[in-house]
Amino acid sequence: MPTINASLSGQFKIGGDLEVNRLGFGAMRITGPGIWGEPADEAEAIRTLQRLPELGINFIDTADSYGPDVSERLIKQALHPYKGITVATKGGLVRTGPNLWHPVGRPEYLLQEVHMSLRLLGVEQIDLWQLHRIDPAVPRDEQFGAIASMLDAGLIRHAGLSEVTAEEIEAAKRFFPVATVQNRFNLIDRAHEDVLNYAEQQGIGFIPWFPLAAGDLARPGTVLDKIAKQKNASPSQVALAWVLKRSPVMLPIPGTSKVAHLEDNVRAVAIELSDDEFAALDKEGHDAFAASGPRLPPSD
Ligand SMILES: NC(=O)c1ccc[n+]([C@@H]2O[C@H](COP(=O)([O-])OP(=O)(O)OC[C@H]3O[C@@H](n4cnc5c(N)ncnc54)[C@H](OP(=O)(O)O)[C@@H]3O)[C@@H](O)[C@H]2O)c1
Repeated sequence: MPTINASLSGQFKIGGDLEVNRLGFGAMRITGPGIWGEPADEAEAIRTLQRLPELGINFIDTADSYGPDVSERLIKQALHPYKGITVATKGGLVRTGPNLWHPVGRPEYLLQEVHMSLRLLGVEQIDLWQLHRIDPAVPRDEQFGAIASMLDAGLIRHAGLSEVTAEEIEAAKRFFPVATVQNRFNLIDRAHEDVLNYAEQQGIGFIPWFPLAAGDLARPGTVLDKIAKQKNASPSQVALAWVLKRSPVMLPIPGTSKVAHLEDNVRAVAIELSDDEFAALDKEGHDAFAASGPRLPPSD
């Protein structure tokens, strides 16, 4: 098997000073069904995490709500003291059962979550802490003010937002420098194209979640299918290669609980798309998104 390494995806400096390889890892899937409780195969989840540095992945995304606590605990068990790995976490959602997610943005709760993440991850400062959702029941300025105070206190090094508009990023920037934004984005989901363009202009890292999605475009006869066959790759790998080529601020975090799937995903960094291939995929994905009708709100 040829050597694969996530460094081939290029580098990005989070907040201008924290350099990571652009292809990262999402640690939501190392939990039980409904992102609740322990994973079905904990030993394999640990092996998957321990394979990350060998494959050059030095950026991991997690959240206190994944499990809850399970993902952060396993990351510590597998990788502490991290040695050059940036671990980003999130707070602002509580869990009341499998697949249930509720925003809670009261400043004192956000502060508790940061302290709990510090404890679970075993660090003195969180590299990147992201507000998982703006809580519509709490004035957003109070939530942004809480994040500014975490930065001032040195509990977190950089701060980001998730599932937000460009207007919300602008509002947050009055309180703290927004280092990253994490919104759902992939070849067939372009709802946040405007936020991506804004992030690129501003030098903000854009962390697309669900980056592997290819949907119906994986069917025989599509542009995606043809390009995947020509390159001896899977449609998901080509979809990920397209995401990576889309913008230099793009930091995709495909997630899996299995070593073999992780290795498959990292192989996407070796897929070179020509400008024509990129444009043909772009059009096909865009058309599929336009035809897909109203977008369902994200659940997690
Ligand atoms: N900010 C937010 O609101 C939000 C929401 C959702 C997710 N996220 C973050 O984004 C990350 C990625 O999102 P995601 O997990 O929804 O989407 P994803 O990474 O695009 O897809 C993950 C799914 O694909 C499967 N998979 C992964 N690699 C595969 C491969 N090579 N072959 C076959 N199946 C494969 C995984 O199952 P297996 O375990 O079986 O491989 C899992 O079911 C999460 O881990 C999390 O960190 C953030």
